[in-house]
Amino acid sequence: MNTILTKSIHKLLRHSPLTHGEFAVLLKNNSEKLRKVLAAAADETRRKYFGNRIFIRGLIEFTNYCHNNCFYCGIRCDNKNIKRYRLTHEDILSCCHQGYLSGFRTFVLQGGEDTFFTDEKMIDLVTDIRNRFPDCAITLSLGERSRNSYRKLFNAGADRYLLRHETADESHYGMLHPDSMSYKNRMNCLKELKAIGYQTGCGFMVGSPFQTTEMLAADLCFIQDFRPHMVGIGPFISHQNTPFSDRKNGTLEDTLLLISILRLMQPALLLPSTTALGTIAENGRELGILAGANVIMPNLSPASARKQYSLYDNKPCTGEETLQGLQSLDEHMKNIGFQITVDRGDFPEFT
Ligand code: 5AD
Repeated sequence: MNTILTKSIHKLLRHSPLTHGEFAVLLKNNSEKLRKVLAAAADETRRKYFGNRIFIRGLIEFTNYCHNNCFYCGIRCDNKNIKRYRLTHEDILSCCHQGYLSGFRTFVLQGGEDTFFTDEKMIDLVTDIRNRFPDCAITLSLGERSRNSYRKLFNAGADRYLLRHETADESHYGMLHPDSMSYKNRMNCLKELKAIGYQTGCGFMVGSPFQTTEMLAADLCFIQDFRPHMVGIGPFISHQNTPFSDRKNGTLEDTLLLISILRLMQPALLLPSTTALGTIAENGRELGILAGANVIMPNLSPASARKQYSLYDNKPCTGEETLQGLQSLDEHMKNIGFQITVDRGDFPEFT
């Protein structure tokens, strides 16, 4: 083994900060052996903070309208081939209710950037969920909004916010998004969310078009500095109605290595084993957990909506993806030595 690689592994195992070059060396030397070493260490690290507990979040994809036109995303506004939908206030509360009965204590309201959901409407919704489910965490994932809007939603009772940064390389950001979107604004949103007091999540796609190892290393450096509470990563998966329809998907191996690296960089991180990971490999979600992830986000949306929330091709919308599949998910987690818990699953500093 070369010496920089050995040094980088040792630093990571000690949870010491790495340089851009050291992250890049780890990523360039992705092998089964390296993944095994890092996954074993990530598993041990995770157990110190969370034992064998896996947190579940009830994902409610409440609107697939989006005014953005991201080149990779199936719900981009130029895609005229999907049926657009919005769940009503009552639909959303009913999803929460059903989720609550099944043991969910976090609801994630995720949607496209839909101007129909004004601050006023979102505040009403958050206030109602907060009052009806006082022991639950509310996570929002509504894309870019103003600082004022983020603050009002926080004051209404939202606890967490997910906004993937998508890439920490400004020129790469420009290759994935139209000119109407800006890297600076996105990064600024993340800083504001954290400053307001949200448990904040960023993240990126693995293997997105034009991504290089150097860019992935920059993502890791950004995360190391920013210290988010949550990081969502999953492989890029092409969608037929986007400009990236013929691009290669990200790989299972790269995603698993990155999950282990993230766990070792930030031992207490809330790190989902994502639907996208479960889409590119049969047992992808279990492998994600074994690599160091500790969160799973089943979908609480009604079946008709799930089908239309098509971020990428073949996004699963049945089975363990759903509330009805929770028991089978639980069994699969037990089989690999983990336990789904009824718990808000906050970042340790926030409990
Ligand atoms: N493949 C994988 N992930 C995608 N996302 C959007 N489109 C795709 C795709 N084609 C991810 C983005 C976004 C999140 C909601 O879904 O990272 O932030």
